[in-house]
Amino acid sequence: MTQITLRRPDDWHLHLRDGAMMRAVLPETTRHFGRAIVMPNLVPPVVTGADAAAYRDRILAAKPRGSKFRPLMTLYLTEETQVRDLRAAAEIGLIAAVKLYPAGATTNSASGVRDFSKVRRVLDNMAQIGLPLLVHGEVTDPEIDIFDREAAFIDRVLDPIRRETPGLRVVMEHVTTSEAVGYVRDGGPDLAATITAHHLVINRNHILAGGIRPHYYCLPVAKRESHRRALVGAATGGDASFFLGTDSAPHTDAAKLQACGCAGCFTAPNAIATVAEVFDAEGALDRLEAFMSLNGPAFYRMAPNEDTITLTRGDPAPWPREIATGDGPVTVFDPGMPLHWRVA
Ligand code: DOR
Ligand code: ZN
Repeated sequence: MTQITLRRPDDWHLHLRDGAMMRAVLPETTRHFGRAIVMPNLVPPVVTGADAAAYRDRILAAKPRGSKFRPLMTLYLTEETQVRDLRAAAEIGLIAAVKLYPAGATTNSASGVRDFSKVRRVLDNMAQIGLPLLVHGEVTDPEIDIFDREAAFIDRVLDPIRRETPGLRVVMEHVTTSEAVGYVRDGGPDLAATITAHHLVINRNHILAGGIRPHYYCLPVAKRESHRRALVGAATGGDASFFLGTDSAPHTDAAKLQACGCAGCFTAPNAIATVAEVFDAEGALDRLEAFMSLNGPAFYRMAPNEDTITLTRGDPAPWPREIATGDGPVTVFDPGMPLHWRVA
């Protein structure tokens, strides 16, 4: 196959940041994606409906002229989140979901949840109105090994929350383990997961073997190869519970390349080509549209995009090594293999 036409894809997990950084990275997403779930971990975070409306307006103002891209806004769940504010934002369609970061789990998560009993009422209300909870699924207990934090989160946090809140709709974001894949597979219609492009192609050796590669460091951190294979199986296997959320997370090179560097892979410019390459290698191009363009809207109870994109296969296509931003250069994710697919 050398050409494939799909409904326009969406990105169900994206960091756009703000200000000069946002203006520089936004076109990399709007070029090909129809919509994106925009993460709320700004400093300070997007916690109220008013914050979300103001952030949405800044994104719309920065959008390239003529682009039909739609940002889907989220609120950052804190122990102070007000039910009334959240319900009002959901009712007018201002927010598409609420994001749960365990406090301290990742970049800008200091305001996250420590005591889950304090968000009980909010979660009950979300279950009532069908508003999805997006979880960064890692425990923060320093006793737990960083490679085990996702699996521990399922047992210690996620499963108890889901049992206590029947009907709560949950997306496990950026899953990285076979345990998470198995849990989501068996989780019924109210549970889904996003998978990133980078976790489909790197394992922990890419980060650590033969020298440390900060541009491959993200959270949850990539695991061993058997887990990567489980992710590829989930993405290409035709289970509608899994869909693309790139977690494209730009940080300047100055922030990445230091003794304590930031977590995040900036994949917006080549995520679609990378995912296409993976599906091609698996002989699963017939399922690419479901993963990138259909399963996500179905879970979010939205229609798929009306328009299409066409991917063509040819000689390996270059991608930009870095994107200039007002804050300094941001290195683009290197999938470590030739990318033959490009959006026509
Ligand atoms: O690698 C990551 N980067 N993981 C996250 O959960 C947050 C993100 C960021 O905001 O940089
Ligand atoms: Zn993220």
